[in-house]
Amino acid sequence: MRLPIVAGNWKLNCSRESASSLAREVAEVPVAGVEVIVCPVSVHLADVAQVVAGTDVALGAQNASAQESGAYTGEVSSTMLAEFGCKYVIIGHSERRSLFGDSEKSCAQRHQAVKEAGLIPIFCVGESLEERESGNTMTVVKSQLQALFDLAGPKAFNNAVVAYEPVWAIGTGKTASPDQAQEVHQAIRQFIFAQDSDSANALRLLYGGSVNPGNAQELFAKPDIDGGLIGGAALKSKDFLAVCKAAAPNT
Ligand code: PGA
Repeated sequence: MRLPIVAGNWKLNCSRESASSLAREVAEVPVAGVEVIVCPVSVHLADVAQVVAGTDVALGAQNASAQESGAYTGEVSSTMLAEFGCKYVIIGHSERRSLFGDSEKSCAQRHQAVKEAGLIPIFCVGESLEERESGNTMTVVKSQLQALFDLAGPKAFNNAVVAYEPVWAIGTGKTASPDQAQEVHQAIRQFIFAQDSDSANALRLLYGGSVNPGNAQELFAKPDIDGGLIGGAALKSKDFLAVCKAAAPNT
């Protein structure tokens, strides 16, 4: 049994005060059988770490540098994130890839740096609408995954978390259907299986893209969907907790 994960990606959407109160509201309601993660911006990590300390809620960051230290103005290293109590780090979110130029190679390097610091990357992959419509979904997703194998070898996804987030579904209100999502998730697991069966079987594979309390249960019921990476619906504790509960076994 893979322990389901639901991670809230708050992006640039919380003030200092609202990040802490959102974290408090989430941490107040334990969700049995699901690992719940909140991912604030890095300047809010210290506050949110205090709020979730001693609760079942884990802390995640939204990105990390590929570098450990040195002349890299504006970057935050994984070791620093670990010092603030982070357990997870989102890497390769499509907004990072498309808006900030995080290349496949740089995402792979960041993923590696996160692992070396003893944290768990949540590695995002996914195709644009154009790529889907031209039948290239798996070519794109495999190339994003392959960058990690190229850097770290067949065990690159050992103890890993991958989030499949079709770019056309992020923040748009358009969700991949449960069957569409399952098809890609299964293909991702098989692709990793071909390199290392243990990594593939243990891999926690999250779906992201307009997940909400109304569609979560059907998505999470699919055999290769082990939880979700949630944007918009993570900004209201009631909605986020409903999505978290939908990931619990036997709901
Ligand atoms: P969304 O965002 O749930 O608002 O679509 C998901 C994400 O960007 O991780």
